[in-house]
Amino acid sequence: MPLPDAAVDMPLLTETAYAKINLALHVRARRDDGYHALESLFVFTEDGDGLTAQDRDDGQIDLSINGPFASGLDTGTDNLVVKAALALRSHAGLSKGATIRLTKNLPVASGIGGGSADAAAALRLLTRLWRVDIDAADLATIALQLGSDVPACIASVSQRVGGRGEHVAQYDVAGLADMPILLVNPLVPVSTAQVFGGWDRIDRGPLDTSSLDMLITQGRNDLEPSAMKVAPVIGDALASLRAQPGVKIARMSGSGATCFALFYDAATRDAAALAIGMAQPSWWTMASRIRQI
Ligand code: C5P
Repeated sequence: MPLPDAAVDMPLLTETAYAKINLALHVRARRDDGYHALESLFVFTEDGDGLTAQDRDDGQIDLSINGPFASGLDTGTDNLVVKAALALRSHAGLSKGATIRLTKNLPVASGIGGGSADAAAALRLLTRLWRVDIDAADLATIALQLGSDVPACIASVSQRVGGRGEHVAQYDVAGLADMPILLVNPLVPVSTAQVFGGWDRIDRGPLDTSSLDMLITQGRNDLEPSAMKVAPVIGDALASLRAQPGVKIARMSGSGATCFALFYDAATRDAAALAIGMAQPSWWTMASRIRQI
């Protein structure tokens, strides 16, 4: 569709909303506010949703969504991208608008950040577009109001995450950067609140992030049993990943249903993607790498 004349000269800025992976997710307690106290190592893939933005002078925030998972998504004030834009604009005291396009490549309600990554990418994008001078603490406050995973999605690098998601600290684990990763989702949307609500309230202990081996051998996703009750097919996705040659670890991310596997080399990952794609043509798969700091 041709852009209106006024928009032709406006620079177009782009961002990627990187998919978030919980390499391990330990749930330690249910808090009095209903949220859960977590210990997690967040990493991000090199790929994700795409966002573009252009300035507009009429003050409107106009979101359009395309891509394989655009269907049914709200483009109004319930969308986290629009909420992020409104929150940033109000903080900055601006009256500017933006034309934002979101290309939804990642399945929704799938444990890999989705809307949170989109909201964080929108904050990064509009901070640049509107030249907002905002300090990191204020940006983190806005991010947490949008969702528990949004603060970590701002930097989208390897981070240790605590609290309900507000305690974030960049954390590099040797050997992890650039590692080939395969994501598999059986395309069953899973409600985060429902999966947290089904956690058995047994604290199985802290997360040791001292090495990749410790994360693999001692790390857990404590939400797997609850998510598998909601969507038993998650067990099939995990089993099919674990059956592939060369898998270093296969685990569920977040509250599911996306599961991931790490590999030593890209050719082995691609062979696994091909095998799973042929065995389960209705499932979603994405081959990527762990984003480097
Ligand atoms: O913060 P966000 O809106 O992403 O959380 C969605 C839901 O997931 C919350 O309403 C809550 O039920 C659950 N949740 C939780 N503990 C967290 C994060 C999310 O119980 N640390």
